[in-house]
Amino acid sequence: MLRFVTSNAGKAREAAQYLPEEVERIEYDYPEIQSDSLAEIAAAGARDAYREISEPVFVDDSGLFIDAFDGFPGPYSSYVDEKLGIERVQALAAREENDRARFRSVVAYVDSGGVETFEGAVRGRIVPPRGSGGFGYDPIFEHRGQTFAEMDVEEKNAVSHRGRALAAFGDWLAER
Ligand code: IMP
Repeated sequence: MLRFVTSNAGKAREAAQYLPEEVERIEYDYPEIQSDSLAEIAAAGARDAYREISEPVFVDDSGLFIDAFDGFPGPYSSYVDEKLGIERVQALAAREENDRARFRSVVAYVDSGGVETFEGAVRGRIVPPRGSGGFGYDPIFEHRGQTFAEMDVEEKNAVSHRGRALAAFGDWLAER
């Protein structure tokens, strides 16, 4: 059994669907360090959660990186989502010529052996919102003609940043 420390129900759903082992969600809100590096944020969060919970755990730190904004909102995606909302982010992006963006995710796993990180990324375009699935910026992120909010969890996991990070994590667990 794997323990996923996250306050985000969408992330928890995707990990539970994807990983071969059972996933228990732990809603401990670890303090996020401020950094431009998702890997640093995820590793620090995993260490903090491990100290608190005293069991091996994993966390996910992720974000939307918009090319025309030099990667903004990136590690600040959840704050920007909360303060501006995805419609306003899309409206700002629509003023730019370049509509390309990337989702990135870093999964950090920690046990007595230390922290291991696994990364995934996916490219897409920022478009007016479509679809009712997923969470966060999914309705404005289009990948091969479909927004992530138009995909079910399985379809999204097959191509998404989180799916790729979880796949690398799963391979590592299997080889251990
Ligand atoms: P974190 O808790 O700092 O990792 O925040 C990640 C934020 O990035 C989320 O709250 C979402 O706003 C956004 N985000 C990350 N992954 C996804 C995704 O798969 N779909 C949509 N938004 C995402």
